[in-house]
Amino acid sequence: MKAVVYKGPFKVAVDNVPDPKIEHPNDAIVRITSSCICGSDLHMYEGRTAAKPGIIFGHENMGLVEKVGAGVKLLQTGDRVVLPFNVGCGFCRNCQRGYTGYCLTVNPGFAGGAYGYVAMGPWRGGQAELLQVPFADFNALVLPPGKKHEADFALLADIFPTGYHGAELAKVTPGETVAVFGAGPVGLMAAYSCLLRGASRVFVVDHVKERLDKAKEIGGIPVNFDVADAVQQIRDQTEGRGVDKSIDAVGYQAVAQGSPAAGGKAKEIPNIVLNQLIEVTAPTGALGIPGLYVPSDPGGVDEAAKKGSLSINFGRLFEKGLRLGTGQCNVKTYNAYLRDLIIAGRAKPSFVVSHELPLDKAPDAYDKFDKRVDGYTKVVLHP
Ligand SMILES: NC(=O)c1ccc[n+]([C@@H]2O[C@H](COP(=O)([O-])OP(=O)(O)OC[C@H]3O[C@@H](n4cnc5c(N)ncnc54)[C@H](O)[C@@H]3O)[C@@H](O)[C@H]2O)c1
Ligand SMILES: [Zn+2]
Ligand SMILES: [Zn+2]
Repeated sequence: MKAVVYKGPFKVAVDNVPDPKIEHPNDAIVRITSSCICGSDLHMYEGRTAAKPGIIFGHENMGLVEKVGAGVKLLQTGDRVVLPFNVGCGFCRNCQRGYTGYCLTVNPGFAGGAYGYVAMGPWRGGQAELLQVPFADFNALVLPPGKKHEADFALLADIFPTGYHGAELAKVTPGETVAVFGAGPVGLMAAYSCLLRGASRVFVVDHVKERLDKAKEIGGIPVNFDVADAVQQIRDQTEGRGVDKSIDAVGYQAVAQGSPAAGGKAKEIPNIVLNQLIEVTAPTGALGIPGLYVPSDPGGVDEAAKKGSLSINFGRLFEKGLRLGTGQCNVKTYNAYLRDLIIAGRAKPSFVVSHELPLDKAPDAYDKFDKRVDGYTKVVLHP
């Protein structure tokens, strides 16, 4: 089959690789109809993780069940399914308590497994024609048959639940004001989720015009951090109070005001958004941090950052009595409910999708999405 294979920094290729097989009675093989490229893939693509060449990328996968193992009870050949990016077993201590992003058995020695991701276990990615799905009854979310809502449902594998997770970590409730940093797919989904949960005003911070335009389109208030300090811009619009809740949908590759993307020279500042969340959130508020931080970053700006050690203003956090939550999204906690919002016509997350392309176009799509040019916001690949 064809698959997107990582070749080294800034290089992927569509190669021929062996088809996956049923290796365990609980496995299913899914024929992929949609697999998205994620901002998380870019960390590997740019050589900013410990990922070695040879990984098949793709953790946002959807398709039709092609084959099931003898132990699979509920799933049937032909079922249309979307797979959470987390691989879970369903029976370990963490899966049982709903923390499927921290499964203790699918990636021995580590809490958490995923398809096509460095350090997340042996699971191959789904930017390919076929995908092996372990513990298939547990991991697959069944969708209505047909072709309707394909792009909306594909986003249930990761970014819609992850954006929602950001809102949940910050416990966003009706009427609250929120600041979302990052208007990439995750940030846009976080802003969208806050609005679904009834937030009164949602500020969305970024410096990529097309992304800020999308934030405005869904009812967010765009804040361009290259124009002036983002925290100050938000204070100016909240009588100096700041916001009730804030969300980091940027992660460790955050850039400073006046970065090359805006024609400037400013560098990456990995702790900038974390400290801005602390500053912009009013006392007693909460911070949701789905943005990714890693314990090992070969390209880190200094020795500490290379080990994932960042300086954050804990004194201010304490003084303001702020709470924070972070980590991988437990997709299974939310995906069935978010699916039902899509079916009921109450949510249409596909507004974020900018490009739908055949698998062969993956190398060019990675390049453009990585440079955040030509409006590349979210790419769905169709093998
Ligand atoms: N927790 C999870 O389970 C989970 C799941 C998926 C993705 N993620 C992570 O979420 C983050 C966002 O993912 P994405 O797909 O939207 O990525 P993305 O790279 O497309 O988006 C990040 C956005 O942040 C903006 N940005 C950079 N510096 C900024 C700053 N100082 N202030 C405000 N905005 C800034 C960029 O311009 C970009 O638009 C990534 O770190 C990704 O790895 C986490
Ligand atoms: Zn993803
Ligand atoms: Zn488990």
